[in-house]
Order: sequence, then C-alpha cells, then structure tokens
Amino acid sequence: MTLATLSEVLNPAMRGGYAVPGLVCLGWEDMRAYAMAAQAERAPVILQAGPSCRAHTPLPVLGKMFCHLADSVDVPVVVHLDHGYTLDECREALDSGFTSLMYDGSRKPLAQNIEETAQVVALAHEAGISCEGEIGFVGYAGGDASAGTDPEDAAVFARDSGVDAMAISVGNVHLQTDHEGGLDEARIRAIEAVTEVPLVIHGGSGVPLAQRAALAAGSRIAKFNVGTELRLAFGNALRRAVNADPDRFDRVAILKETHDPVFEAARAVIRGLGASEKG
Ligand code: 13P
Repeated sequence: MTLATLSEVLNPAMRGGYAVPGLVCLGWEDMRAYAMAAQAERAPVILQAGPSCRAHTPLPVLGKMFCHLADSVDVPVVVHLDHGYTLDECREALDSGFTSLMYDGSRKPLAQNIEETAQVVALAHEAGISCEGEIGFVGYAGGDASAGTDPEDAAVFARDSGVDAMAISVGNVHLQTDHEGGLDEARIRAIEAVTEVPLVIHGGSGVPLAQRAALAAGSRIAKFNVGTELRLAFGNALRRAVNADPDRFDRVAILKETHDPVFEAARAVIRGLGASEKG
C-alpha cells in the first residue's frame, strides 16, 4: 500500500527542487498507464478525478480503482479529487478512499471562497488527508477567461482557509493543445513572497516545457496538473488503433494499443518535472 496524502508528496517536492505531476484520469487505461509510469520512473504521482471523469464513472468506483493501483506499485500515489464544487462531493470522495480533496471556490468572492474552502479543509484534516484550494481563476482555452491571482488575496486565502496547497492563476489556461504563452514569473515571485504554502499550476499542458522544468526546480510550485497533453497521446493512439484494422471491433484489443504511447507520455511528464527517483 503506497497511498499518500497531497502534503506527504508536495512538501518534500517543494524542499527538494522538483514538482509532482497531477495526472488527469478519465478511465482505467490511462490511470493504469500513469501508475506504471510512476513505478518505472520511481516517482511519486497524483492520480486525479476531475468533473468529466466523475460524470463518466461514479466516485466510489474511481476510489476503488485508484486505491487498487496504489496497492499495486511501491511509489507514493495520491488519490485526488480535482475541482470539487460542493461539500457533498468532497465528502463523497473522502468516503470513497480519496486522500486529497480540491475544493474549487475560485469563481466566488474571496470571503466566500475562504469560508467554503475552510470547511473542506476541516473535513479533510479531521480525516488525516489534504486539501487544495484555488485563488484567482484559471480560465479555459476557448471558454471562460482567467482572472489572475492577486498576491495579497493569495496571502489572506492561504492563511484563513488553511489549505495544504494553493492553485494560482499566473497566465496558465486549462485545455491548451500547444505550449505557447508561458507563465508570469513576476506574479509567481510576488505570491511566493507572501505565503509558504506549496503552489499548484492547473493547465500544465499549455506551459512551455523549459519553463515547466525551471519552475519545478526553482520555485514553490510543487504540483503541475497535466491533462490535455496526455489526452492527446491517448486520443491519437486510439485513432491509430481503430483505423489500423476496419474489421476489428473488440474494445480490449483496440484499447491495448493506447498503453505504450500514454505510458511513455506520462514518463516524459514525470521526467520533465524532475520527479524521477523521488518516490
Ligand atoms: P490541462 O488539461 O490543460 O493540462 O489542465 C489540467 C488541469 O489543470 C486539471 O485540473
């Protein structure tokens, strides 16, 4: 059993000059490939169930799948709820074996975000697990625009909510299919100056790879969430597998061909954050 809480993997990462990947899971094929990639790299890993994953598979089932994978490797595995929007959803994740809860109150006014996040922090800490919150708003490519994190708000949010990790908006955008743009390092340094909490970057796929590596090594950013980059690897492999043989219809045979590309893509993400050999 290698189940770990978010704090157990992020605090050593912040001190040790690397970051832990928060890998976006959608189903058995990708989560298994991620766990095997972490094992191959001897790295800690965070398996995340976000809203679209939960719309497809019930949380109690996901909890069992993640915990089974944690059991089958000997590197630390965090079982993480990504973008929980209600206290009930967070409670259900806790009851399903999750070891880390993200409460996303980032669309709400500061005081409400703090109050609601603090309730999830209390729930998590009472159970001996971790809680991530978000301050500022990380937008979506082709969707809602970002609202950058104000460093003073971040300091108040971290202090008054009691979160174990804080997601910030510093030029990052969810769902980018390229690595254009880049993060606002001056804003990251201003946030680092006013809080000690490990920082989290959502929308990690869109961050230029060199900047991802440099910030993992030399900032308080201890977690990069990466989804789109890996979903592209899965989708491209699935398309190749389906198109390779028009007579084939067995999904297990088709899905098997997604394993190697997703496994390799996850290994590359882990290596890029300096997390290899840290598990
Ligand atoms: P990307 O899909 O843009 O990498 O974002 C992942 C994420 O932040 C999930 O919370």
